[in-house]
Amino acid sequence: MDRQLARQRTITVWLAAAALILRVMSSSAAASDVQVDKDRLLDSLLAQMTLQEKVGQLRMEYAGAGRNPQAMLDSIANGHVGAMFTAPAASQAGLRELQDAAVRRSRLRIPLFFAGDVLHGQQTIFPINLGQAASWDLQAIGKSARVAAIEATSNGLDMTFAPMLDISRDPRWGRMSEGYGEDTYLVSRIAEAVIPALQGPTLGATDSLMACTKHFAGYGAVEGGRDYNTTDMSARRLVQDYLPPFKAALDAGAGAVMTALTSLDGVPATANGWLLHDILRQQWQFRGLVISDHGAVEELIAHGVAEDGKQAAQAAFAAGTQMSMSDRNFARSLPRLVMQGQVTEKQLDSAVRQVLATKYDLGLFDDPYRRLRAAPDTEKQRLHRAQARDMARRSLVLLKNRNQTLPLSRHARIALVGPLADNAVDILGSWHANGQPEQAVTLRQGLTSGQAANARLLYAKGANISDNPQAFALLADNQVSFDPRPAEAMIAEAVTVARQADVVVAALGEARGMSHEGASRTDLNLPGQQRALLHALKATGKPLVLVLMNGRPLTIGDESQWADAVLETWFSGSEGGNAIADVLFGEYNPSGKLPVTFPRSVGQIPLYYNHLNTGRPFDPAKPTPYRSRSYDIDDTPLYPFGYGLSYTHFSVSAPRLSSARLQPGQGLHVQVTVRNEGLRAGETVVQLYIRDRSASVSRPVKELQGFAKLFLAPGQERQVILQLPLSALSFVDRKLRWVSEPGWFDVMIGLDSQTVQTASFELMP
Ligand code: BGC
Repeated sequence: MDRQLARQRTITVWLAAAALILRVMSSSAAASDVQVDKDRLLDSLLAQMTLQEKVGQLRMEYAGAGRNPQAMLDSIANGHVGAMFTAPAASQAGLRELQDAAVRRSRLRIPLFFAGDVLHGQQTIFPINLGQAASWDLQAIGKSARVAAIEATSNGLDMTFAPMLDISRDPRWGRMSEGYGEDTYLVSRIAEAVIPALQGPTLGATDSLMACTKHFAGYGAVEGGRDYNTTDMSARRLVQDYLPPFKAALDAGAGAVMTALTSLDGVPATANGWLLHDILRQQWQFRGLVISDHGAVEELIAHGVAEDGKQAAQAAFAAGTQMSMSDRNFARSLPRLVMQGQVTEKQLDSAVRQVLATKYDLGLFDDPYRRLRAAPDTEKQRLHRAQARDMARRSLVLLKNRNQTLPLSRHARIALVGPLADNAVDILGSWHANGQPEQAVTLRQGLTSGQAANARLLYAKGANISDNPQAFALLADNQVSFDPRPAEAMIAEAVTVARQADVVVAALGEARGMSHEGASRTDLNLPGQQRALLHALKATGKPLVLVLMNGRPLTIGDESQWADAVLETWFSGSEGGNAIADVLFGEYNPSGKLPVTFPRSVGQIPLYYNHLNTGRPFDPAKPTPYRSRSYDIDDTPLYPFGYGLSYTHFSVSAPRLSSARLQPGQGLHVQVTVRNEGLRAGETVVQLYIRDRSASVSRPVKELQGFAKLFLAPGQERQVILQLPLSALSFVDRKLRWVSEPGWFDVMIGLDSQTVQTASFELMP
């Protein structure tokens, strides 16, 4: 009743302020029927706002632990805060209290919007995004994002700091787990699926969650994979390889963009006018909101491009950062900068208008409580388990399966071993939002429910994830439990258990905090005693299945030799244990394909499939000296991009092209026949790569430009037609223009990026 009253009062103030009554409402008409003209409302609010109130709108504050709640409420009531960044577990009641302070107590009653990190689920946790990308299943990824939006909005959020679209070719970087892998084309298509799924048909809908895509731009290329480190690359590479996913997201309607914490060519993204103004606003015509990353304005001082907070605020604002996140410098310095004429009133108004427009689009002027209504306690019972299990199954990648070790019989006596085997914490992955370990299904639980009733499951932990508690102390997510027993005793126990079993399943990998923000690694082996454990299990002679749980490619050359079967499961989320059991028992035929190259050694990094050829490529079939390679290793990927096995076998025909000579403006059709040669139904991904043999700049040896995921019954065969539009043949030239140049192109078709069949055509002048 109170809420209704507050809402009507708020609306009355806005309408009076705008001297606008667009529709005379009967006293009984619902307030949500009011159609307020956006521009006029925004104009009228701007006309009434004080300088302090305007600056207040440009500030996003953190509403979590460590804040004085009363001071925060007063700050909101005084018009000093425009939006809140919320802790994952923030209660609806808590958020409502904050909104009350804005719409009941502040002078102009402008609502807040609430944002949080919902990367792969809010309550129901889906696989980490790197895992989702491994599904190559845009529909499934979209459905997962929709569920995340439904749950996050019913927890009161209006915006998510997602999707994270940083291309990364460096698995040392812990944040690779948050993104969708190394490939520009795949990540762009995923962005197009995720944005509409999050935002729904209209942003004002109660279950629409605005996307704030991040981190703009180049963050994924930090030197040495060290988080927050410098990024420096040619503008051409940035535009060609790193920016297209963002462009795709914005074309799909993403409402906001977050700046990267890193610098690019010496200029931090948050103060980078070339990125934020020239590219984002001028070239791409982006009309949404630009938010700094957490504390990024202040960090301009440490970056060495501002002497103090005032310069930092000025530099960020001038470049195009409109709202600061958890930063005091806009509040402290923008009013002075405006009064001294270093920031014009017009510039300020334009940023404030953007924030107000965001709130308007989110429907918050119509109803500030529109996403604050669901009863919080019903949430926990409303997990979307079926969807999470489906997505998780699709994200698993079978890397090896010697002698059809998998699938396992449901009657087999299984020894389940490893620090991740019965681990409900790590399976949720980094950025697990409000996901609760007690709601997650571990592999042990999944195998137990998947086994035949009379089958036995033996279990031993076997090892800790790491033996170095100190290394975890400074990680952002350091929730790791250590078993105090000596390593030898734990391994011995696991070996004893293994000897009693028909087959050994070893669940090994990383803690979720190891593949996270601020969690870079120099060594990508299995940490701690896990290698020793696997080696000891191998020595038992039992069939050995390695189930990997990790947020990045690991260098598992030896381990993949020791194991008979290897299943990459990433961090597979709330239903991970069930999904993995589904694959291990053959209830689901694995169909995932790697969205990232697996190196053999850290020394090979960066190792990515779409590299340039160099003048002296190494040909393993004709080895000669003076060639581009490292001589001390088989300098190929351990597993290439696009790779993944199935319990059946698929064959693909050579590609048939609609034309061998393409006239300008014409597209190409590539036709292939895919056949399921085995005895099980299953899905696979046909991948289309192209190579521009000669152009004004060197072009990659191959580049993904199309794919299709298809289901085939045993013996079934299907024709697949992949369209190659002319734009697929274009690239960024030395003047940073997208062009296509006539000449010969190769079209390669395969079920991974390495084993392909080729046809060629000529693009006519
Ligand atoms: C991260 C962002 C994140 C923000 C808020 C920053 O440190 O870089 O990705 O959205 O914190 O949690």
